[in-house]
Amino acid sequence: MTSQPNAQIPDGCAFVIFGVTGDLTHRLVIPALYNLAEANLLPEKFCVVGITRKEMSSEDLRASLLEGLKKFATRPVKDDIADKLLYCVTAVSADPSDPSSFDKLRKRLEKLEANRNTGGNRLFYLATPPDAFAPISSELGRAGLLKEEGGAWRRLVVEKPFGTDLASAKKLNDHLLGIVSEHSLYRIDHYLGKETVQNILVLRFSNGMFEPIWNREHIDHIQITVDEKLGVAHRGSFYDKTGALRDMVPNHLFQLLSLVAMEPPSHFNAHSVRSAKAEVLAAIQQQSEEEALRNSVRGQYTAGKVGDTEIGDYRKVQDVDPASTTETYAALKLTIDNWRWAGVPFYLRTGKALGAKRTEVAIKFKQAPFAMFRCTPVEELSQNYLVIGIEPVEGIALQFNTKIPGPTIAIDGVEMTFRYKDYFKVAPSNGYETLLHDCMIGDNILFQRADGVEAGWQAVQPFLDAWQNAGAEGLESYAAGSNGPEKAEALLKRDGRNWREPS
Ligand code: BG6
Repeated sequence: MTSQPNAQIPDGCAFVIFGVTGDLTHRLVIPALYNLAEANLLPEKFCVVGITRKEMSSEDLRASLLEGLKKFATRPVKDDIADKLLYCVTAVSADPSDPSSFDKLRKRLEKLEANRNTGGNRLFYLATPPDAFAPISSELGRAGLLKEEGGAWRRLVVEKPFGTDLASAKKLNDHLLGIVSEHSLYRIDHYLGKETVQNILVLRFSNGMFEPIWNREHIDHIQITVDEKLGVAHRGSFYDKTGALRDMVPNHLFQLLSLVAMEPPSHFNAHSVRSAKAEVLAAIQQQSEEEALRNSVRGQYTAGKVGDTEIGDYRKVQDVDPASTTETYAALKLTIDNWRWAGVPFYLRTGKALGAKRTEVAIKFKQAPFAMFRCTPVEELSQNYLVIGIEPVEGIALQFNTKIPGPTIAIDGVEMTFRYKDYFKVAPSNGYETLLHDCMIGDNILFQRADGVEAGWQAVQPFLDAWQNAGAEGLESYAAGSNGPEKAEALLKRDGRNWREPS
């Protein structure tokens, strides 16, 4: 993250991590804390408390976190900064199936807080599998660890997946909101830590020229693509129960959709922004199962080559059912029932083991209305796209038509591109820095609120139900390294449209 001159230094606090021995903590959380430390954005009065199920010494935990940091850091690790950060780490064991361990945790924490003079502010970060969210939060609540008292704040941070369908997301919301209030709950979606994703709001609302054309009068349709090259690798057990739709759409793709499609919020604060996002998600047209089948394509990858890497058949991945009907690719057509977007399709696609890594939102403007230039019929004019690129390059591109130099009026499409890396010197980050910093300063703007999460699940529920009922019927296959199932092309072709080719 760039060290911004006005960035706020958080209050002193204890940063308590459940799942401290896991992959997420090593790969993202500690490297992000390191980057914050390097940017002088951690409080002086700070401690990290790593909760382990089994007894572990603080020395062993620090050694393991240091190893992870060296492996996953986004920039060269400076010993003095790493030492200072890891010096604050203490391992404490606690297991929600043993309530007395949470009472002991409370006492340990109070001691550590007194030593480090953190003022009693606590952030509990659940970097655990989702089935641990309810038992851990219940115990934190019962043991009084989440009670805000004496002016100190308490915050609870949970990772995705937030539920597996509408009913389970509601149940989890009810459970957590019975323990902490909405303003103390931080539901992380790492897409909101990406610069370009945050920049969607700035692009739309700090430039006078886009908003007047950001509607059904001028926009033909919108495409959201999150293509990945990686297969499912070692995550077979999680992925086979989840699939591409649950894993990516109600969370990451809907974050992109809601930022692109929301109404202008009246203030740039958590309440206004999250209300506007939830409102547009709630306006996604509810499809019947029949419509959902017609407006979707799902696929599963078979063996193939992604670049030089051989990827095996999805059904042969460890812990995947050999007869699995779980999709590794999903494409959907959605519409939004409101004044701004009525009749404008939103095409979404995401998949694993595809030929290229590409994450983008492409806004396709309407075609020029008639053929003024004899040499180029209107249908041959190239497409007017505004492309918000997140991967492989963060930036924004505008495609428009221009005259090819010469005596006749021949026309070709060109592209005007802004790339972050050309304009700003930004130290490489993993996207969690902004999110962790925001949790510590108490700004929920980049976190999902209960109504937004539920509206997202509500919109995908017909697809989940329709696909489950259809079983293997309608599940397409595609070779690893390809562009996905051919049927995904047909989803747009039947509307006279195409997926955008990479520039
Ligand atoms: C995670 C999903 O939330 O997002 C993964 O569980 C996916 O399956 C990842 O690979 C994609 O994130 P990014 O930042 O690489 O686009």
